[in-house]
Amino acid sequence: MERYRRIEGLQMNEEHLWCLKESGYEAGLHKHYEGLFTQGNGYMHVRGSFEEGCSDAPQDEEYLRFPDNVTLEKPRHPKSKQGTFIPGIVAQHPLLKEEIVNLPYMLGLELWSAGGRLDMDLSRISGYSRWLDLRDGCLHRSLIWETPGGMLLKCNFERYISMADKHLCIQRVQVEVLAGEGRLEVRATLRGDVRTNGMNHFDSVVPSAEVGCSLSLETLTEGGNQIFMHSALEASEAVIWHEENTGVTAALRGEFALQAGDRLTVSKLTAVTTDRDMEQGGTGSRALAQLSRARDIGWDGLYERHTASWKSKWQHADIIIQGDDLAQLNVRASIYHLLRANREEDDRVAICAKGYAGEAYFGRYFWDTEINLLPFYLHTNPQAARNLLLFRYNTLDGARRNAQNYGYRGARYAWESSLSGEEQCANWQYADHEIHITADIVYALYHYVRATGDEEFLERYGIDILVETARYWCGRVDWNREGECELLGVMGPDEYLPLTRNNAFTNRMVKFSLEQTVTCLDSLMSSKQDSYAAAVERLNIRPEERELFRHTAEKLRLPYDSGTDVVPQSDDFASYADVDFAGIWTDRSRPFGHFISQERNYRSKALKQADVLELMLLFPQEFPREQLKAAYDYYEPITTHDSSLSVAVHGIVATWLNQPEAAANFLQRVMAIDLSTEKKGAAEGIHIANCGGLWQLIVYGLAGLKSAMWSGSIELEPRLPEGWTELSFQLAWQGERYRITVHPDAYEVHKLEGRGYVAGTTL
Ligand code: BGC
Repeated sequence: MERYRRIEGLQMNEEHLWCLKESGYEAGLHKHYEGLFTQGNGYMHVRGSFEEGCSDAPQDEEYLRFPDNVTLEKPRHPKSKQGTFIPGIVAQHPLLKEEIVNLPYMLGLELWSAGGRLDMDLSRISGYSRWLDLRDGCLHRSLIWETPGGMLLKCNFERYISMADKHLCIQRVQVEVLAGEGRLEVRATLRGDVRTNGMNHFDSVVPSAEVGCSLSLETLTEGGNQIFMHSALEASEAVIWHEENTGVTAALRGEFALQAGDRLTVSKLTAVTTDRDMEQGGTGSRALAQLSRARDIGWDGLYERHTASWKSKWQHADIIIQGDDLAQLNVRASIYHLLRANREEDDRVAICAKGYAGEAYFGRYFWDTEINLLPFYLHTNPQAARNLLLFRYNTLDGARRNAQNYGYRGARYAWESSLSGEEQCANWQYADHEIHITADIVYALYHYVRATGDEEFLERYGIDILVETARYWCGRVDWNREGECELLGVMGPDEYLPLTRNNAFTNRMVKFSLEQTVTCLDSLMSSKQDSYAAAVERLNIRPEERELFRHTAEKLRLPYDSGTDVVPQSDDFASYADVDFAGIWTDRSRPFGHFISQERNYRSKALKQADVLELMLLFPQEFPREQLKAAYDYYEPITTHDSSLSVAVHGIVATWLNQPEAAANFLQRVMAIDLSTEKKGAAEGIHIANCGGLWQLIVYGLAGLKSAMWSGSIELEPRLPEGWTELSFQLAWQGERYRITVHPDAYEVHKLEGRGYVAGTTL
């Protein structure tokens, strides 16, 4: 334990501001904590399950999950679902298409004594506590176990997935005998009896254990991926490990004779490799090499490397709040998951909707990435933001195939993207109609370029996305008799209206996208002739296409103008039925969608999530305060927030409208989405878009940063909540880093790594 207190530079007396705690075990909350305590390093992610597993919670249950609305679906596995995910390792579900594979469970470390196994539900346990230290991503569990033979054992489990040595998972258990004597057996396993959404995606699982101290599991997935897990065991007492492999489990068992006062430490070091890794060489030999290198570095050395990596991540990403400890901890929990879920070294993957902390959304990529997550990465780690956009560039061919499948030219990004960019959404409503994703990606592309100044990205990659998506839009629009073009049969961000006419959000985003395509073509033509000529050739751009893009952008109808009082969500929004919310939604702790049939919902004025308000957030300069207020006053009461993407948007708008009470209320709700034990929010994984939403609520809302999309310099209009005496964070902006410090009546912007102070002002 002592070494965990030696993280240089981090305040170690601030546990309550850095540690997510579970005090007291409640079986009903276990699954929630499994999600919340997910550990990872971008390369691999493991849910926060107990090392020994749970009784009555089989992990190899087989069933067929059907296409459904994930928000409303009743999930399986009420008690526990272990999860081990490596972004990029996917397989095919017969009904639901591509899904990330839940890999073999590598954490297995069981304690046995007098024929009984330590089991959180069945054993006599006292003094239980568990906490995830967000500073270094270490998960700790401490408890006293009264064994069936009457020994009192104090057990401390610790583990982390190394942030520095990406293939390593490091764990250990320390046992101290408080009273009694007897035998303790430790059983270390690598278990292949794991199913993903009820499917067995493994073609073969081969366990092996060498007498001595190592065990391995070689897995071949249906998709043809090889995963190699290799563990080495070390004990503080002499022991002979016995092989105990069964079926698809590799296991070693060692026995220790203990008496009062004894202390025993058993460590398990696991290396995981796959055939998708970017390193050269076979999976087995690389895993062995990783382990032998790790043993050379030693436990302390490994931990130091790991914490140094976390420390540098926190240095750029932390948000420091003075005056609200709860908010401080909650914000750090979100940032922790954003840091963990990011894999900036690999542009073949992005960040999936559950942050690689659960099976629910199949490991797929949504608009969440571009609209909810990107701003955090843009301003804390631009390289990670670039990687997310490169993923979209790399999957352009998949988007081209999507367009072709629907009978269009160009590229149409998938509502739920696979690794190759092809549409995976099994529900027609979203797959066919939620087309705004294609324009959201272009918005994100420009957001990246404007925040970083990386103009070259447009020339090298962006232009392909722009031209191909513009082609798609020109095919997707319908021209009306007035000579305008329209987008019909559209689902906007609000997923409770599937087939609307001219959704304001979608049309504005598409107009933006087409306009930027024209601007980009023009600017390349005038100042980068070589790049322009190469793009013309590569993309086969016909001379009349630029004019078609321009004309379509110009004529694309928006269902509002600057004089509109309440911007309508779509042309036909007013024609939907009013909803008797009080009569229908009788229990507000559950989603509205549980109280109404889909058929009725689809013809009613009940929003699942922010739609017009999302539009106003992305184009703030286009909507005067009166329009923003009118939209907020009209839509907020009819918005159900059944989607976790909704609340943060409302919180930002409430701060912009100077409604501190409402803003504070939304802030609490945002923080509760993953952390509330009442709702067991994280059980199916982390709502990673909401983590990004919380960052935006603080930075764009409370600190009032003007988006880099529209502002060339750092400008703030802070409105701190009551009680917050200081808010401080780093900001990457146009290639420089700044520290922003906001007080209730003033803020400062300091340039870092350079000349220091740049601008400061008193409000
Ligand atoms: C929301 C979508 C979101 C998806 C994944 C749905 O419930 O309505 O906007 O993209 O979840 O987070």
